[in-house]
Amino acid sequence: KSCVLAYSGGLDTSVILGWLQDQGYEVHAVYVDLGQPCEDREAIMQKARDCGAKSSRLIDVREELCRDFAFPVLAWQAKYEQIYLLGTSIARPLISKVCLEVAREVGATAFAHGATGKGNDQCRFQLAAEALDPKVKIIAPWRIEEFRELFPGRTELIDYCDAKKIPVKASAAKPYSSDENVLHISYEAGQLEELDVNGVELVDFGMGVSPQDAPDQPEEVTIGFEAGVPTTLNGKQVNALEMVESLNTIAGRNGVGRIDMVENRFVGMKSRGVYESPGMTVLYDALMYVEQLTMDRDLMHLRDRMAPEVAEMVYYGFWYTQKMDALFAFIRDAQKHTTGEVTLQLYKGNIMVASRTSPNSLYDAEIATMEGGGSYNQDDAEGFLNIQGLPSRVQGTVTPRKY
Ligand code: ARG
Ligand code: SIN
Repeated sequence: KSCVLAYSGGLDTSVILGWLQDQGYEVHAVYVDLGQPCEDREAIMQKARDCGAKSSRLIDVREELCRDFAFPVLAWQAKYEQIYLLGTSIARPLISKVCLEVAREVGATAFAHGATGKGNDQCRFQLAAEALDPKVKIIAPWRIEEFRELFPGRTELIDYCDAKKIPVKASAAKPYSSDENVLHISYEAGQLEELDVNGVELVDFGMGVSPQDAPDQPEEVTIGFEAGVPTTLNGKQVNALEMVESLNTIAGRNGVGRIDMVENRFVGMKSRGVYESPGMTVLYDALMYVEQLTMDRDLMHLRDRMAPEVAEMVYYGFWYTQKMDALFAFIRDAQKHTTGEVTLQLYKGNIMVASRTSPNSLYDAEIATMEGGGSYNQDDAEGFLNIQGLPSRVQGTVTPRKY
């Protein structure tokens, strides 16, 4: 029996790597590099082999994560429950895809991961993996009672590693858990479960400063888009990863992109999360300001009505579905005129627009002007409103409103 394991090098997946072998599996460890902090990649690969992995590999998909996963979701302006930019949700199907590619290469038939049975991540891993390979066997040890009985707490996990001579870094236990990639850092659990704990005060943020500590001068940044895709930063052509990383630095030092929310998990419970996503927060605003010039009104309103649905699909993990394929085809077409440039000012957590331009701008100062003349004939509004007001006049006559 042979399986691939989405391996992070941390305590849980190291134990799972050992336990899978105890179950008779040959394990291929896959470290999917999404930009999570990692001091020493070679050490992680070595550790996987020390834990008995049949093979271990590190696969860098940071550019793909930004270009093919985050940017299409950005084009939708999709946010879960108004504010969550989906940084973890977006990354999960990509992890599944990479692991299944390795599985095919090594002839493994099972895919193991370290997500718990209480969360969203298990849904995303599994729904994506099964869509790509309907026959794959998913192993989620945390959903297996026997595994949970063996490892009721951190102590037992550490004892197991000691017994198996798996090196564990004696990292000081944080008062919460975090998940980081190039798009964002999420913080959950531990002390954050108490709602009277101020999340942004508790968390030791990794991507930027607090608005209070940000500079007293606004910082300007110019972002250019081509067909809804961010392509230039301060006039320079950059790839997707450079775009996100550079904006994380710029926006992070200006205190942009921190939120604290209670969200509805796919499995039903509400859970509290603190997030920081400086770069992506700027990109959402930047794209919006260019769309304001280029996107047809009714198309924009239609997109905006469907965006929460896209966010829900991504959050739940229905990435590889025919519905999402169609939604992505829609947004590619809807964004084909969104080319242009916007200059923003970042200031103590705020994002303000300074200027914007587009060769496809539908904004026509000649039409919009409040000055005399122009190509808009006010006489026409007379008939427009006669017709628009017809239902209200009839209702007002038949069922008069009190006022
Ligand atoms: N609640 C967020 C989400 O569902 C973040 C999940 C973080 N995952 C983790 N394994 N720490 O997308
Ligand atoms: C987990 O339960 O594995 C992390 C949290 C989540 O997936 O929502």
